[in-house]
Amino acid sequence: MENRPWQARWKAESVPVRVGGQARIHKVRRNSDGRLGALKELHVEHLKDSERRARMAREVDALIRLNGAGVPLILDHNMEQVGEAASVLYFVEDWIDGVSLQEYAGGNPRGLDEAICLTKSLAGTVKTCHEAGVIHRDVKPDNVILRVADKVSVLVDFGMAYRKPEASESEGDIITEGQEIGSRFLRLPEHGIGGSQRDQRSDVTQIVGILFFLLTGRHPRRLLDERLKPPHEVLFDFFKGEITNDRRWPAIRRFFDVGFQYSIERRFQNCQRMLEYLDTVNEASQDSSSEERIKDEVRQLDQLLEKKEFEDLAKLDRSLADASNRMLNRLTDLVRENQLFLRRAGIDRMTHGRMVTFVFGFSKSREHAARVDLEHQILVSSGEAIAAYSFIPAIAPWEYYRGPVVDTESLQEAVLRKADIIFAEAVGVLRRKIEKGDVW
Ligand SMILES: Nc1ncnc2c1ncn2[C@@H]1O[C@H](COP(=O)(O)OP(=O)(O)O)[C@@H](O)[C@H]1O
Ligand SMILES: [Mg+2]
Repeated sequence: MENRPWQARWKAESVPVRVGGQARIHKVRRNSDGRLGALKELHVEHLKDSERRARMAREVDALIRLNGAGVPLILDHNMEQVGEAASVLYFVEDWIDGVSLQEYAGGNPRGLDEAICLTKSLAGTVKTCHEAGVIHRDVKPDNVILRVADKVSVLVDFGMAYRKPEASESEGDIITEGQEIGSRFLRLPEHGIGGSQRDQRSDVTQIVGILFFLLTGRHPRRLLDERLKPPHEVLFDFFKGEITNDRRWPAIRRFFDVGFQYSIERRFQNCQRMLEYLDTVNEASQDSSSEERIKDEVRQLDQLLEKKEFEDLAKLDRSLADASNRMLNRLTDLVRENQLFLRRAGIDRMTHGRMVTFVFGFSKSREHAARVDLEHQILVSSGEAIAAYSFIPAIAPWEYYRGPVVDTESLQEAVLRKADIIFAEAVGVLRRKIEKGDVW
């Protein structure tokens, strides 16, 4: 290695750490202050390859934008020479002292708490990337370094990253098209040639893959196998007993059910939503019992017998209608149990795959004119099911549940939990009407 532009400021510590397809990586030390860096230098044989040069410039551009938020800081680079094919292109970033997640957990599954914690911190980093307009597109165990100093995960390798162009740039400035991206860690349909390729939801799906990897030590590889089974069913045996016996397992299983959906519209729609779901997984440990366990086993049995592919709208309709019916039935039962008088109850409207509503009303008795009416609705909007209700005349519907549309179990549970509370509120509304002498 002679006459390299960086040698005026940096000294290579050793032989290359790694020689990849695109670049070689050296551990280097800054002459001025001894600070350690990771030098990435484009292979000499690629110096004239404008596609690869542009890719390296993108990597530096993304890292500069992110400014060290869960990613290495850029310490030095010569990207101003990206257009000069003769020059050796390089950059230096912070040296992250640690092991890759691949080395840490490959074939060596970790415990649930640690896996969730690492996944959450990685999701936080990717969320920051998305907020800065950067999509990583190659989140995998090789590209996450677990720093020894604080056990925090650091995301590296923005060589595949895509950045949304600013108003002053044209798309062509920042990316070339027509090649397959992604990796064997988890192939995504949208990453193939002709796929959308620039969707932040793909990063979110790869993070779901990281949790899977941490819990099994295995790569999920694809969303569906040849028998249309998702990774957590195909490789179920790689989850340790302590994981599948944990109270949080049913919620974890649902997390994978959602996160590994084949259709991108049905997966977690952004990092924030995924993080919120992971928080509820931890809550699930607090209110469970053997009764829950039985319910879950029966549910799993049901699922085994019933194909749980949600691609057809009829099935989605049924699950929404089912949740809606449960709410209505429970409210109707409560009216009877409390010797009140049912005025109306019925599913009024059903818009295929999008919304189901019902109105429901009761009074103190047949003779009493004062009554309370409410409207309940479940609707689907950008991959999420939302449940809400309002008393008539309505001000605005009050939303009490929001979650991934394929996670019908959580919707059913939310509806059952909420029914009694809504009923109690309705009785309160009726009482106040009678107090004030209102009829409607
Ligand atoms: N900043 C860094 N500090 C320490 N090791 C790094 C750093 N960046 C990369 N590495 C190590 O080098 C490997 C390859 O780097 P990466 O950026 O992923 O390049 P490639 O495009 O060849 O995959 C990583 O998997 C990691 O082990
Ligand atoms: Mg890499």
